[in-house]
Amino acid sequence: MMKAIRTVTTQVRRIEAAGDDIMLLDLADPDDWELPPFDAGNHIDLHLPNGLVRSYSLCGARTDSRRYQVAIKREETGRGGSIAAHALRPGDTVPVSLPRGTFRVAADAREHLFIAGGIGITPFVAMAAQLGPDVPFSLHVLHRGAPPLAALCEAMLPREHVHYHRSGDGRPRVDLAALIGPFHAGRHVYCCGPDALMDAVADLTRDWPDGHVHIEHFVPPERPLDPDAKPYQVTLSVSNKSFDVLPNASLLDTLRQHDIEVDAACEGGICGACRVRWIDGQPVHHDRVLTDAEREREVIVCVSGCASARLVLAL
Ligand code: FES
Repeated sequence: MMKAIRTVTTQVRRIEAAGDDIMLLDLADPDDWELPPFDAGNHIDLHLPNGLVRSYSLCGARTDSRRYQVAIKREETGRGGSIAAHALRPGDTVPVSLPRGTFRVAADAREHLFIAGGIGITPFVAMAAQLGPDVPFSLHVLHRGAPPLAALCEAMLPREHVHYHRSGDGRPRVDLAALIGPFHAGRHVYCCGPDALMDAVADLTRDWPDGHVHIEHFVPPERPLDPDAKPYQVTLSVSNKSFDVLPNASLLDTLRQHDIEVDAACEGGICGACRVRWIDGQPVHHDRVLTDAEREREVIVCVSGCASARLVLAL
């Protein structure tokens, strides 16, 4: 049984430079119909011409229903997605997934502190723009070289709330502890950027109450092989099929090998594209997207393992 992968056909309308090796890509319906709506903080998967599928945060105004905007930094040593994206030209067709994601502004927050490392700014422009005029927020952008998305920030956000901290070339690094400051009720911190920055923010806020620190990963972490991993059987309840999964094998790859299509993008447990409902068994969760409550019924098949002899999926 094949699980339908839903995509929307878009066309590249405009490409502009938005920082060092960063391009801002405007995507629209080929006939200018409205696109599926999104929430600030959502991302979409781009199905690139070389066959790769990569997730990028939507950074434009969510009130602009005829355009998706994504910013992509060219990574020479990456896995090839950004290079394929940078080869796109106006008029090219790009299928994209429906918008999705779990990164969003906290509805109960009274103050928002966004900390972006370089291209990690992408979700925060739309998130900050969504806040009402009376909601206090500050966006701190830590960068080297040209500031990323400066023109977009200028167009969408009040200038006094956006702070650039340039490092490198002998400049001192920002004092992150002073920037974050102490916790007080209603204060929420959000961070997206390189692992070292996100680890530092997590460390400096480790005593904050649960749910007040929000971290968005955009590079899948390295995952060492589990020496204790055991083989198991995956059973698909809808198509009534069963397959063996070898120790440390990717469940996503095993499904694909048997022509079971599942949405996927990052293949590293950070985008949520491949979430599937599980019915029975003991999945071992290695993702960074699901909440504990979601793990009670869903599993991220690109990185999950299984501690029981059988795992039953609703496929
Ligand atoms: S493909 Fe991104 S979480 Fe599985």
